[in-house]
This record gives sequence, C-alpha cells and structure tokens, in this order.
Amino acid sequence: MGKTSINIAIFASGSGTNAQAILDYFKGNKLVDIKCIYSNNPAAYALTRGKKFGIKTKSFTKEDFYKSPAILAHLKNNQIDLIILAGFMWLVPTQLVKNFTLLNIHPALLPNYGGKGMYGHFVHEAVIKNKEQQSGITIHYVNNQYDKGSIITQVTCPVAPNDTADSLAAKIHMLEHKHYPETILKVVEKLLSESN
Ligand code: GAR
Repeated sequence: MGKTSINIAIFASGSGTNAQAILDYFKGNKLVDIKCIYSNNPAAYALTRGKKFGIKTKSFTKEDFYKSPAILAHLKNNQIDLIILAGFMWLVPTQLVKNFTLLNIHPALLPNYGGKGMYGHFVHEAVIKNKEQQSGITIHYVNNQYDKGSIITQVTCPVAPNDTADSLAAKIHMLEHKHYPETILKVVEKLLSESN
C-alpha cells in the first residue's frame, strides 16, 4: 500500500517567517506531518517558532552536517519524505540530495541573482543596484549546487524606482508566504500519487 501522508523536515537559518507560513498552512492537514525544524544556527528564531508550534527542533554544527552521518540518520529516524529549505543558507551535502526530495525558495528570478553568497538582503541589494524593473521568487528542486535544481514555479513582482532592499524584501516575503505552501502541497500530492 502507498503512503497516506508525507513527513516533512524544514531547514531554516534565520527568522523563519517562511517556516511559520508553512506551519500555519498545513495545520490540521492530514496529508502532511511536519516532523522537525532543523537549523545550523542554534539562535535562529525559526527554532523558537517550531517550539512554540509544538514540533521538534534540532540544531547542528558544520561538522555534524558535512562530516558525520548524524543529520542523515536523524532524518531517517524521523522517516522524512520531503525536506523544505526555508531561508537555509548552507549548501546541502550530496548524501542528503541523494536520499531525499528537497525544495528551496529563492528570493529572485533564477538563474539571475543566484549562487554562493546570493541570499537574503544581498539578493535584493543587487537587484536594486542593477535597476531591475521586476524581481520575484523561484521555487525549485535542490541539487548539490547552489540554486541550480530544476525550477517548479516563479512568480514576479514589480520593483518600484523608490524601492529599497527592505521594501523589496517585504514584497518578496508576501509572495513567498503565499506561494511556497501552495507549491509544497502540489509536490506532496505528487509524491503521494507516485507512492501508489
Ligand atoms: C527568504 O526570503 C528566502 O527566500 C531567502 O531567505 C529569506 C528567509 O526569510 N532564501 C535565500 O536567500 C536562499 N538563497 P525567513 O527566515 O523569514 O523565512
């Protein structure tokens, strides 16, 4: 018999507003069980959000993540089917890419403004500096290169002449909070149908 629900792990490095939007969206949804929030940063507010929501949290060091099987084993023990990167700033090691389906959200229209060092405010600052007239979000599968996995969806927004990195970040966050949970649901439905 196929699966009836998908177990999710969220990886976040910072505030975790996307993690929060995902937790809120899937509350009470029987197709999804969000098992744990992981972070490379023990002080990440994303972990506090997870605890407040009543789900497990785990932080890890660089050594744990890249040089030991600890995180892979933890994910396997939690029977994770899908990993969601939500403001997670480290490159995912190949052993995780091989073992799991992973999604990422990027706060720009890839392939532009992606790659190592292009995250959060750095992205918005570069978009403004180049006087782009539009920016947006990209939701994509994750492979073992920064921002290179196949794209699932992109949504655009205008960049106004008076936008700052902060005001653009606010617009982008609004798009992210709406579209990331909806796209995750579509991927969950796909994984469930493939398991039958
Ligand atoms: C989000 O805008 C996300 O797209 C970005 O970090 C922010 C995290 O915000 N991710 C990247 O830049 C990945 N390269 P949050 O902690 O409030 O969810």
